[in-house]
Amino acid sequence: MLDKSVDYIKNIIGDFKPQIGIILGSGLGELADEYCLKSISYADIPGFEASTVSGHKGKLVFAEINNKKVVMMQGRFHYYEGHSIQKVVFPVKVMKKLGVETLIVTNAAGGVNPNFRPSDLMIITDHINYMGVNPLIGPNDDSMGTRFPDMSEIYTPEYVELVEKIGDHLGIDLQEGVYMALTGPSYETPAEVRMAKIIGADAVGMSTVPESIVAAWAGIKVIGISCICNSAAGVSTAGLSHEDVIRAANVAKDKFKTLVKEVIKKL
Ligand code: HPA
Repeated sequence: MLDKSVDYIKNIIGDFKPQIGIILGSGLGELADEYCLKSISYADIPGFEASTVSGHKGKLVFAEINNKKVVMMQGRFHYYEGHSIQKVVFPVKVMKKLGVETLIVTNAAGGVNPNFRPSDLMIITDHINYMGVNPLIGPNDDSMGTRFPDMSEIYTPEYVELVEKIGDHLGIDLQEGVYMALTGPSYETPAEVRMAKIIGADAVGMSTVPESIVAAWAGIKVIGISCICNSAAGVSTAGLSHEDVIRAANVAKDKFKTLVKEVIKKL
């Protein structure tokens, strides 16, 4: 299926060879609209499925940003949608086959760290996989990565530093921290958020970790950026809603785009 999918895409994009992949999280999809040279609907790509979440479109978008060739996922597959974990990470394998060397993975997240405010951007330094599943379970494709891959530096430290520097230079305040993924789709309870804090998480969300594991396995360098859309349950007294998450992402989207464009320039 992977080869079929890659062949289908290559037939459409010809000799366009993206070096950078970007997975655009909830409310952060505008970058793809702005720079789109060519797009392919997920529904048309063998091995992909249509996206079911509002605020997420379902397109693979090819673009040139700051002279770099980029492939963007406008919308991603979530485990909570009922997709198998293999489906969730399939696009990352496709990106690898298309030539992607660096993946910028983004998401909307809840802030566990009490210093975080809605619409803050957080550079992911590490993650906790609390989804109860690992996307590498099953036969290993040795041509892509090893059976027992090292995960000590998933979020390439030199790129964490680079993004920090760029943030400084642009005057964009950036937080930094550990992202913990749960399956969702229910938001966490206050007790779960207290646990997340105790075990070392700064933010919680429902994505990113499966894709980052597969990217690291396949030798792709990963940069992770969370948009902190709300204080996680119990951290503040406000209740949680998807609408509030999208609203906070909207407030953050301009600085997010500015940051990502500058990061692309420097890669
Ligand atoms: N928890 C999990 N996922 C999220 C949250 C949250 O509080 N906000 C945005 N995505």
